[in-house]
Amino acid sequence: MPPKNDTFLRALRREPTPYTPLWIMRQAGRYLPEYNATRARAGSFLNLCKSPDFATEVTLQPLARFPLDAAILFSDILTIPDAMGLGLEFAEGEGPRFRHPLRDESDIAKLAVPDPSGSLRYVIDAVAQIRRALAGSVPLIGFSGSPFTLACYMIEGRGGTEFERVKTMLYDRPDLLHRVLAVNAEAVTAYLNAQIAAGAQAVMLFDTWGGTLSQAAYLEFSLAYLQRIVQRLAREHEGERVPVIVFTKGGGIWLEHIAGIGCDAVGLDWTVDIGEARRRVGDRVALQGNLDPSVLFASPAIVQREAGKVLAAFGRGHGHVFNLGHGISRHTSPENVAALVEAVHSQSRAQH
Ligand code: CP3
Repeated sequence: MPPKNDTFLRALRREPTPYTPLWIMRQAGRYLPEYNATRARAGSFLNLCKSPDFATEVTLQPLARFPLDAAILFSDILTIPDAMGLGLEFAEGEGPRFRHPLRDESDIAKLAVPDPSGSLRYVIDAVAQIRRALAGSVPLIGFSGSPFTLACYMIEGRGGTEFERVKTMLYDRPDLLHRVLAVNAEAVTAYLNAQIAAGAQAVMLFDTWGGTLSQAAYLEFSLAYLQRIVQRLAREHEGERVPVIVFTKGGGIWLEHIAGIGCDAVGLDWTVDIGEARRRVGDRVALQGNLDPSVLFASPAIVQREAGKVLAAFGRGHGHVFNLGHGISRHTSPENVAALVEAVHSQSRAQH
């Protein structure tokens, strides 16, 4: 059995670790040739997600290449609206689309919370299978989208819009948006609690689009629902604390608010200085982030230098999980990821 590496969970609990642990958002993905090969065998991205065998295989691929400190469930945030009956599809090169987006009041009235052990069973089975395959080597992260980010896709029907439908609803019919968000919050809570019961050792909430809102709208339509979820999650499983990470892309201006909802860690995108973020949130939460993913387009020497800047900005002490500020680009060379992992592990030792 491989040795047990719990540096990631310790850092989230702000306990001492010998070095700064790291994982990479979208670490299993199209920058890896072995991922593309498995995806071709599966036929599509959704087939990868819906088969626990394939999901396990691709979850483990980045860990076979790089000594990462955590695994993340291979899935997508849009599994929940798919299970609600919206009909998820991925058109080649176009990103996600729903065949039945929420178009009127009656669609919203009909919306119901999916049972995680029913239409989302394949995700929960994948969590259990990945945990077994990891055999304690590194912790497994479960995840979900935030109620607001899910609502963006459910109401727009696809990505890549200027959120005109969601934002029209937010101002014209806030009651309808609140109804969608309340159902989503309940669905996310049940879904994450099922992932935790199946073996997820930490969970992350991805609020990819909360940062497009005004401050007042963010607090009312995104953060309030994140808080509701955090308060209702099972925070312990088999005697171990299950930390919760909240990531609002573009949320750097609201860090104090996010740190106040009861989460264990706050994810940072690359627009903020992590040292300033640390001073602002104090010792309330751990921080995760926040190298600009574009740094990985440069040479390995530059990658190492820029990683060192993030480590130096955080400074000495504990409570930092290194990551990118958003998902890794498909145009990244795996050699640069190897350089990044090596740099973070070796350069951070002096700070602990
Ligand atoms: O981090 C990981 O390695 C775990 C897997 C993961 C995926 N999606 C796999 C994926 C996670 C955590 C997500 C979350 C997700 N999905 C988010 C929130 C995080 C973020 O990136 O802001 C969002 C907004 C989505 C919705 C989604 N899924 C979009 C917009 C797209 C298309 C964009 C793209 O990169 O093409 C996806 C597809 C997707 N999800 C891929 C992967 C590996 C690429 C699918 C493929 O193989 O074609």
